[in-house]
Amino acid sequence: MVVVTGCTDGIGLSYAKELARHGMKIVLISRNPEKLQAVAEVIDKDFGVETCIIQADFTKLDIYDGMKEKLAGLDIGVLVNNVGMITDLHPFLDVPEGEKAFQDMLLVNNLSMIRMTHMILPGMVEKGKGIVINVSSISAISPIPFMGTYAATKAFVDSFSRSLAYEYKDKGIHVHLVGPGYVFTKMTDKLLDGPSLTAPTPDTFVRSDLRSVTKIQVTSGYWFHNLMREAGKFFDYVAPTVTTNLAGWNLTREMAKQRLAESKKK
Ligand SMILES: NC(=O)c1ccc[n+]([C@@H]2O[C@H](COP(=O)([O-])OP(=O)(O)OC[C@H]3O[C@@H](n4cnc5c(N)ncnc54)[C@H](OP(=O)(O)O)[C@@H]3O)[C@@H](O)[C@H]2O)c1
Repeated sequence: MVVVTGCTDGIGLSYAKELARHGMKIVLISRNPEKLQAVAEVIDKDFGVETCIIQADFTKLDIYDGMKEKLAGLDIGVLVNNVGMITDLHPFLDVPEGEKAFQDMLLVNNLSMIRMTHMILPGMVEKGKGIVINVSSISAISPIPFMGTYAATKAFVDSFSRSLAYEYKDKGIHVHLVGPGYVFTKMTDKLLDGPSLTAPTPDTFVRSDLRSVTKIQVTSGYWFHNLMREAGKFFDYVAPTVTTNLAGWNLTREMAKQRLAESKKK
């Protein structure tokens, strides 16, 4: 069985559908019961695969005991730690309701991965096999002004995943760390005009990533994002301040676009 967190939209939904296409039963975990039911019906209709629904809001701390009970006894071979959130682009102190927003982001982007892995890994270790897919972001590579907290949560995902991969490889566990660049989803539709060669649809992205999932440990999952990743690492190494300034300048323009779009809506 496969467990996918944040599976009712975007990249998580595509992992759920794509793995179901390969005949794997799916445990769907997300916060909205209607959307969960709709995804379960689509998977049943399109792929004839069994699903199990768990409704959970990862901004809450009291979800894990119930989830553990529901997952007990299931034969879980793949865990996709996908759930994630972001705030709109702002300087740190200007993020609306910053205290709550930052806490939620750490709970959703980081604690969820740690708790889900801690819950599911023992069963995999017992069987001597399993795959953990941790969805990070290319923003983990170097500082990203105006979304510094998000980028830092993704750097956490990177660091944890690479350590975990080392600790458990001899126990038959493969940890696949995937850090996408832009993928056209609900998370990015304010910043992008539509899907493109550089910002693929989540289905295109996930199909590309799954081609390498058992072979590669650290990737951006998609050819263009892998190029960006290598270029980003190189420039951050040779000229870190310039790289940060370029990212900041680029996102200052994105912020202006975002504000303009919001003011037009009003
Ligand atoms: N899109 C990109 O360009 C991009 C780039 C790099 C990395 N990523 C990473 O990829 C992952 C997926 O991103 P995405 O773009 O697919 O996001 P998305 O389209 O916003 O989808 C997020 C999914 O997570 C669920 N979710 C959000 N908050 C939740 C919560 N508190 N509790 C339970 N479920 C929750 C959403 O459910 P609802 O339907 O209820 O909202 C939805 O199913 C994230 O970790 C993100 O950081 C994305």
